[in-house]
Amino acid sequence: MTIRAILAGVAGLAMTVAGLQTAAADDVVKVGLILPMTGPFASTGRQVSAGAKTFMAKHGATVGGKTIELVIRDDGGVADQTRRVAQELVVNDGAAILAGFGLTPLAMSVAPVSTQAKVPTIVMAAGTASITKASEFITRTSGTLPQYSLPVGTWASQNGIKSVVTLVSDYGPGLDAEKWFTKEFTSKGGTVTEAVRVPLQNPDFAPFLQRVRDAKPDAVFVFLPSGVGSLFMKQFNERGLADAGIKLIATGDVTDDDILNSMGPSAIGTITGHFYATSHDSPENKAYVEAFKKENDGMRPNFMSVGGYDGMALIYAALEKTGGDASGPAFMEAVKGLSWTSPRGPVSIDPETRDIIQNIYVREVKEVDGELHNVEFATFEALKDPEKAEAP
Ligand code: DHB
Repeated sequence: MTIRAILAGVAGLAMTVAGLQTAAADDVVKVGLILPMTGPFASTGRQVSAGAKTFMAKHGATVGGKTIELVIRDDGGVADQTRRVAQELVVNDGAAILAGFGLTPLAMSVAPVSTQAKVPTIVMAAGTASITKASEFITRTSGTLPQYSLPVGTWASQNGIKSVVTLVSDYGPGLDAEKWFTKEFTSKGGTVTEAVRVPLQNPDFAPFLQRVRDAKPDAVFVFLPSGVGSLFMKQFNERGLADAGIKLIATGDVTDDDILNSMGPSAIGTITGHFYATSHDSPENKAYVEAFKKENDGMRPNFMSVGGYDGMALIYAALEKTGGDASGPAFMEAVKGLSWTSPRGPVSIDPETRDIIQNIYVREVKEVDGELHNVEFATFEALKDPEKAEAP
């Protein structure tokens, strides 16, 4: 054989292999799941990915005639990494859908990629209201801070709390929480005497808690991202705020089910608002908790895991509707108005904003069968994100 013939043969083979790969790729929808699997927010990555895997273990990997392939990538919680990994997934690995996003800045960094490549992007964890406005290809299965902070303001105003100091992490979701708790609480006659903001990275709450103690409000309203609540609760007790008669009210991120049980009895009595509690009483949630624990060595599922589970539910329902078409415009059209029963209760995707509409529950930390739980006692039904209702 001449060199030319060999080269022609190799080229032909290469073309055949490429052809086969394209054919195989046509049957596969690759979902790039980008999460902080390492670093200070690794618990978010662990929970979201476990929720997504639990969904696939239950429903299989085929939908709309396609095989779903989940590719999990770690961004370490660093926004530059999130964007780089997203670009790689889309350009080199042929990912048709991007998902995950453990913190607001990580989700925001990907929005330009979503828009330019027209890639459906499912935010499963981050909660700043404005994220879904950053690209028309973004939808969300977690929740928004305005959505689950407002009901805490309502509860406080109806339960004898007159003065509050707010204490939030100083970035997107914290500012949303501060704004919407305050707006609701003050419109119902309450007073916010001070708004304290703490750094997101490596927070030491002691000096801030001292300020709260000195201000002597009836209650302190808190938002901190998932995983940080344990340290806060410890310092809250060490500074003697509970002994000073200052009640702790918060978003459910603070009494995150992933860490709540290790917080100890001082967490008992904390009132929070959120979209999911492990103890949510429904047949769907019982089945979910059981399946999740079985898949994940007995780990307790928190709200992040449900964002991951429902993110996959959304992807499957949309692909079912489009007959397996994951292209941006078709997929996003299919997402609008989707509704299903989540472990958290009934949910739907607002066709106008692509954000999730869901129940928000007011809960109290209680000991149940020797474990600490967020026990739901009031429901705000089918809440839309209030920030977008105000400024669409
Ligand atoms: C965000 C992160 C969290 O861990 C959380 O519980 C809520 C919001 C965020 O960065 O958007």
